[in-house]
Amino acid sequence: MALLLAIESSCDETAVSLVRGSAGLPTTVLASEISSQIALHREHGGVVPELASRNHSLHLRGLVEAALHTAGVKIAEIDAFAATTGPGLASSLLIGSTAAKGMACLTGRPFIGINHLEGHLLSPFLDLTEVPPHIALIVSGGHTLLLDVERPGIYQKLGSTRDDAAGEAFDKVGKMLGLAYPGGPEIEKAALMGNPQAYRFPRSMIHEPHLDFSFSGLKTAVLYTLQRETCPLSIPDLAASFQQAVIDILIHKALRAIQHTGRTRIALSGGVSLNRELRRAFEVAATQAGLELFVAPPALCADNAAMIAFAGLLRHLAGESSSLTDDIHPNLPLV
Ligand code: KG4
Ligand code: ZN
Repeated sequence: MALLLAIESSCDETAVSLVRGSAGLPTTVLASEISSQIALHREHGGVVPELASRNHSLHLRGLVEAALHTAGVKIAEIDAFAATTGPGLASSLLIGSTAAKGMACLTGRPFIGINHLEGHLLSPFLDLTEVPPHIALIVSGGHTLLLDVERPGIYQKLGSTRDDAAGEAFDKVGKMLGLAYPGGPEIEKAALMGNPQAYRFPRSMIHEPHLDFSFSGLKTAVLYTLQRETCPLSIPDLAASFQQAVIDILIHKALRAIQHTGRTRIALSGGVSLNRELRRAFEVAATQAGLELFVAPPALCADNAAMIAFAGLLRHLAGESSSLTDDIHPNLPLV
């Protein structure tokens, strides 16, 4: 059994987690502490990098102490330390990775740098005994990525967004509709009272054979509707119609990836996968297509450190580690 502590600080959440696990067994999350900065950035309508890094340094030490306390573990008992080293905001990544390297140095244990996207990608499998071959769809604020996963570490990119990420589109459309930041959960809430067929928004690139996405045309279509319509607009109808268009695009491309590869499993991860309508629609589509669907529990969908710890644990158990001189990589690709 190995014990690993991980730090996530790539954007606006400071998070620390302790996990315990070994090959072939479900991983146990002993602690998963998080300090969200959403309220802080809300008044600016988006993430302010300088504010984010200042708050990471302010909260990190307390979160590490809280995680050790919750898990009932002493720092000397930890076998390895992991941190997100990219992609993300440079000044934010530096805080978490430097702290994890410091603890690794102090204890003489290995340090493992983790790609934030790998954390999301593996999150649906944390409490299972293995990560089987599958198609992964990562939908977050910064990324929309379709990958073929042979096993942990062996990924092939099938498609990605050519403009906005799915979460970014939710956030921008939320702003247009006068909803609070971040737009994703607000649109989901507003859509509950709306008719998804009220406005016919485009499903960009849906008929093209490739596996890339585009959400900027959809975002512009919402903007034009807002500018053009003379009769009173229904925010719930706009939210529901926009949300449905995103869901249709994601499901269409994910099923096309299944056709291309012949895989029988699909896994959904990232902040946008918190969306209940998206989860429900994927469940229906997977059942109809005879596919096995894996979706992370809500606590592992948005940014958190348990997913980074799980990715770190798998690498540690495979005998991998990073050099303490490895730098952060704000634009680190997954493949
Ligand atoms: O994975 P995440 O926490 O951070 C990144 O790595 O980007 O994803 C954040 C994104 C934001 O764009 C947010 O609006 C979106 O996830 N999101 C949602 C929902 N909850 C969060 N989008 C749609 N519906 C939701 N319920
Ligand atoms: Zn993320």
